[in-house]
Amino acid sequence: MKIRNEAVFYINGKRYSVGAPQAGLMLSDFLRYELSLTGTKVVCAEGGCGACTVLCLFIKKKSQTYLPVNSCIIPVALMDGSSIITIEGIQTAQHELHEVQKNILKHHGSQCGFCTPGVVVTLAGMVEKTLNKPEGLVSKKPERQKIKNALTGNLCRCTGYEPIIKSGSNIDLSKCTPLQSRYLSRSEEKDLLNTVKQPLLIESEGFSYFSPTSMSEAVKYLAENKDACIVSSCTALGVSHNKYKIRLRNLMSLQLIDEYHRISMQKSRIHVGARVTLSELRTAVAAKIPELSRFINLFASPQIKNMATLAGNVGNASPVGDLLPFLLVSDAKIFLISKHGKRTVPVEEFFIDYKKTVLRRGEIISAISFDIPGKNEVLRMFKASQRKDLDISAVSAVFRIVWSEQGPKKIASARIAYGGVGPTPMRLFKTERLLEGAHLSPELFSKTAVRLQSEIHPTSDLRGSEAYRRIVAQNFLRRLFLEVCET
Ligand code: FES
Ligand code: FES
Repeated sequence: MKIRNEAVFYINGKRYSVGAPQAGLMLSDFLRYELSLTGTKVVCAEGGCGACTVLCLFIKKKSQTYLPVNSCIIPVALMDGSSIITIEGIQTAQHELHEVQKNILKHHGSQCGFCTPGVVVTLAGMVEKTLNKPEGLVSKKPERQKIKNALTGNLCRCTGYEPIIKSGSNIDLSKCTPLQSRYLSRSEEKDLLNTVKQPLLIESEGFSYFSPTSMSEAVKYLAENKDACIVSSCTALGVSHNKYKIRLRNLMSLQLIDEYHRISMQKSRIHVGARVTLSELRTAVAAKIPELSRFINLFASPQIKNMATLAGNVGNASPVGDLLPFLLVSDAKIFLISKHGKRTVPVEEFFIDYKKTVLRRGEIISAISFDIPGKNEVLRMFKASQRKDLDISAVSAVFRIVWSEQGPKKIASARIAYGGVGPTPMRLFKTERLLEGAHLSPELFSKTAVRLQSEIHPTSDLRGSEAYRRIVAQNFLRRLFLEVCET
């Protein structure tokens, strides 16, 4: 098969074909320094402030609309097969301001202006999503809560959020035209679809990027390039690159492989492909596991969740990885593939030490599956961080309780997992055993709390001291008892 050596994407309707060395730049740098599209700003360079937000639609996910993403932590190569809209492309086809821009102006939603392009692009993304809803416009003005949710990943240091929210609340949606009708023309769509049928290999001194179109190509490449690093969205690696000057060298992405974008739901299990984003996961589980959907809302920004994946969360193996305790209580299985074949690892056996897993060289995480809790079960997910939204946890905990049929509040089985209390995310088997067959009571809480303290091994770091983590870990258990006893 023919292999391309340039990433192809559109920016504001113009086609770009980019090889080395620009393909290794972060998208924000490419926009600003190569294309002079300086409207996109860079403030934190770590995916935390949203100043660099652009809208992006990947043709492999063409059922979606344009979604906001952080351009400061995405290498240009990863934009292959996408259509991008920057702040310069937001104005109308007649070169008039977009409704979002008009309202920011009218309601004083900007002062120094550094965050403003990101805020405008994010709000334009929210408008786009609303306009593309199958049921059409149900209201002429965006809801206040929706505006606040959309802006979770945009920080402003000087305006204060009220004028920005007021600007959003006054957008007349009936006057907005979908950006998609302007920027994703039939010919653009056809061109991108044809382009991504071919694998992409970009090689230059010090940087290489491979994006295969089939699992067999991926496995073969990894067998021959054992130091290749598989990237989902680069949200972790992009930060290391910007902050610690870690060079991106040998990357491989699975984004052109169709089957990795699939999420399938059976009666009691969910199967999530390696390229399913956290935003897609949240939507897919909203009806079956509302607690998981609620929890996904709490961490990372919408911009990050539109790119980051569950597989990336697992592969990164951080002790505070947001979804790892959930997987530990949900009988998750990690599906791996290499040139030696396939294997499935139960999640309890996957994490072996700080950021170390059983993943062998040449192995790829192809999918993850986990349980859907049954009707007689309770799932509770908690996290503590300095900021409620968009912050890395100091401690997190997930409890899954199965009620016995032999009486009220009698526990048949319990699964408990914590993050941030040891070198890996941990299942607390000994603590669980105390709960099994017991009735919830204050005495049971006291006994369980003592057992919990003996089973966790938190250390001190910048997110919290050992003592703080122990108190929080115990408070999560207390909260479980209080909440569950009340239901
Ligand atoms: Fe802050 Fe990109 S510059 S998120
Ligand atoms: Fe200055 Fe938002 S207007 S940071």
